[in-house]
Amino acid sequence: MRIILIGFMGAGKTTVGKKLATSLGLSFLDLDQFLEAETGRRIKDIFKEDGEEMFRSIETKMLRRALSTKSDIVLATGGGIITKEENKRLLEKEEKIFYLKADYNTLYHRLLKDTSRPLLLAEDREAKIKSLLELRLPKYENLAKYTVETDGKAVDEIVAECMSFL
Ligand code: S3P
Repeated sequence: MRIILIGFMGAGKTTVGKKLATSLGLSFLDLDQFLEAETGRRIKDIFKEDGEEMFRSIETKMLRRALSTKSDIVLATGGGIITKEENKRLLEKEEKIFYLKADYNTLYHRLLKDTSRPLLLAEDREAKIKSLLELRLPKYENLAKYTVETDGKAVDEIVAECMSFL
């Protein structure tokens, strides 16, 4: 069984994904970590040195690789995976795509002090999160097979909810 987690930065894809994988006896794969391991580079540095477009093209390559080589996994994707049509085409064949949904306030508080995500290095972080969220929300909803609302919920609760759909 393969489960794909999608959602905005800070939605809890990695934390939930790890626990969900353990509960289901599956391996966990975080696409960002996979990308860093395979390229030997930090995402931060790829953005800084080569720009977002290059990052996106590497991300697609890694998504394709992960989907074609790993079957029994929980895969946590990066928040921007829905920005490319090609990724959408690769993912829409998947049966179990869970959208971890969080509202602006939840995300803002989780991302307030984050320094690891290049897209949040904008001068006005609040506005950046708002505009990205607005742009991306319909894309997550469109790709999702199941939506799990995460606001105000503990990780175990979210994991249990994901499992209830299986
Ligand atoms: C990104 C999200 C990040 C990472 C990169 C770009 C995005 O992953 O892939 O910084 O465009 O939303 P997380 O969603 O795991 O933070």
